[in-house]
Amino acid sequence: MKLFIDDANVRMIEWLCAYYPIDGVTTNPSILARYGTKPVETLKAIRKVIGKDRLLFVQTLSSESDKIMQEARKISWEFKDNTVIKIPVVPEGLRAIEYLAKEGLEICATAVYTPMQGYLAAKAGAKYIAPYVNRIDNLGYDGIGVAKTIQEIIENNDMEAEVLAAAFRNSQQVLELCRFGIAACTASPEVITGFLKNAEVTAAVNGFAADFAQISPKDWF
Ligand code: E4P
Repeated sequence: MKLFIDDANVRMIEWLCAYYPIDGVTTNPSILARYGTKPVETLKAIRKVIGKDRLLFVQTLSSESDKIMQEARKISWEFKDNTVIKIPVVPEGLRAIEYLAKEGLEICATAVYTPMQGYLAAKAGAKYIAPYVNRIDNLGYDGIGVAKTIQEIIENNDMEAEVLAAAFRNSQQVLELCRFGIAACTASPEVITGFLKNAEVTAAVNGFAADFAQISPKDWF
């Protein structure tokens, strides 16, 4: 399962990329708005710290398909290779996805709440499909179930899209999809650092060091 950071805090992203096996960064307009008034500068700074090989996801803002397409081409030109354009799966977005995918742009279909949105976006040529797991749960539906269903639709119809499950609130949700073999997940720094937060593990590691320190110098040699 590929693992992405769903955030735009440049220092945190740099730290996470140094310590965790991270495949890239996903953003959306709300995330970028949280980190200052210059989103293009923020995205450039993120690209700098993640390097040229990791993926950077940038979402379009327009609501009409022609404008979404113009915006997507501009974003793609500005941020170059390994930039994925996020487009919401509404009728105007779906039209733009189909055109842009044919032009060769990599698209992440976003704001996905239902399996049918996932199917349509995959059929239109989106490379990634992003169901919002926790937001679906909050509506009283099954977010994990929607993500799994979309993965099955893709596999059973020989489609090429990958599920990039998004909007998590805890490690358990990510773990369940990892176990299922979902292609990718994007999570906040809080959820990602939570993967390794375990007082028992910390105590065990400290115990090894303390025991060894009693019989020898601080180091092996
Ligand atoms: C990812 O593609 C989405 O932008 C993001 O995960 C939305 O989730 P939220 O519920 O954490 O805002």
